Amino acid sequence: MPSSSAIAILGIESSCDETAAAVLVDGVVRSNVVASQEVHAKWGGVVPELASRAHQEHIVPVVREALLQAGITKEQLHGVAFTQGPGLIGALLVGACFARSLAQALQIPLLAVDHIQAHVLAHLIRDGQERPLPAFPFLNLTVSGGHSQLVLVRSPLDMQVLGSTLDDAAGEAFDKGGKIMGLPYPAGPLVDKHARAGDPQRFELPVPAVPGLDFSFSGIKTSFLNVVRKGEAENAAFAQEHVGDLCASLQRAIIDHLLAKTRRAMRDNGLRQVGIAGGVAANRGLRARLMELGAREGWDVFVPPFAYCTDNAAMIAMAGHYLFLAGKHAPLDTVPVARFG
Ligand code: KG4
Ligand code: ZN
Repeated sequence: MPSSSAIAILGIESSCDETAAAVLVDGVVRSNVVASQEVHAKWGGVVPELASRAHQEHIVPVVREALLQAGITKEQLHGVAFTQGPGLIGALLVGACFARSLAQALQIPLLAVDHIQAHVLAHLIRDGQERPLPAFPFLNLTVSGGHSQLVLVRSPLDMQVLGSTLDDAAGEAFDKGGKIMGLPYPAGPLVDKHARAGDPQRFELPVPAVPGLDFSFSGIKTSFLNVVRKGEAENAAFAQEHVGDLCASLQRAIIDHLLAKTRRAMRDNGLRQVGIAGGVAANRGLRARLMELGAREGWDVFVPPFAYCTDNAAMIAMAGHYLFLAGKHAPLDTVPVARFG
């Protein structure tokens, strides 16, 4: 039971294929419930209409479970935070309508959260496990299925995007590379798994030539497709037989590109603290290589626990907590947004 002065925020996430709800009390996780949608795997990607329907089925039980696990009633909440965007519009609508209704019924503030900023705020979530938190300012490499960004984080609500992807997101590069090898969606975690047994130098892939701090993954993807097609022309089982080396080489090329830009952003901005967030931050290769680079460069490196890297509602509630403190309440007619700006 939270004390009367503690701030209890319910977070709701429904931007893609996870229906999630979490309760944070004074920034500490009391519950973090995620219902993943299995229905998309056979289609090789997220089907928006199926996602919306699954969100509708899951949202009530997921929110109920989050409150139950947190040991609080909805009347004890101080605010309802939801993902306003970016994401699939039909999926976002389910969370937005639910959050708006709940805030109105309970007469408490509605807090509209930017999903990508929330990924960054995963660093500030506390859950009883001791781990150092970054101080401001720090650089964050946000890498998910929809976004790749280098962000200068000055405070929880003051972030500046220094660079972003010109084409695919890092997660898409993993997923599309995996699809080329015949791996099911989402292929990122499988590429990570197979890469551990492979030789990262076995297949040569290009280093993208993109100016500044932006990213591009289309060249890596096309070259990877060519490697696999060429191999398959001689041996139909090529991708299967070389899955370890293919995954390790693909993963190395993606990480090389991400880390080259990260290093440049750190130097350009005179920063000593760096974090990674988003689904691809769960990648073991990226985590290990960022640690190595940080040790060489004298940086402090921050990596959130797995549960707060992939889509979750604890990060939405964390962002809601700061919006609540800043008095940034959203009107009850706030609409979801597929893309900001
Ligand atoms: O942040 P997230 O859960 O959802 C979005 O906001 O997009 O990220 C999902 C992405 C997918 O592309 C998935 O393949 C990728 O993160 N991913 C990984 C790993 N775990 C998830 N990519 C590489 N290695 C992983 N271990
Ligand atoms: Zn995400």
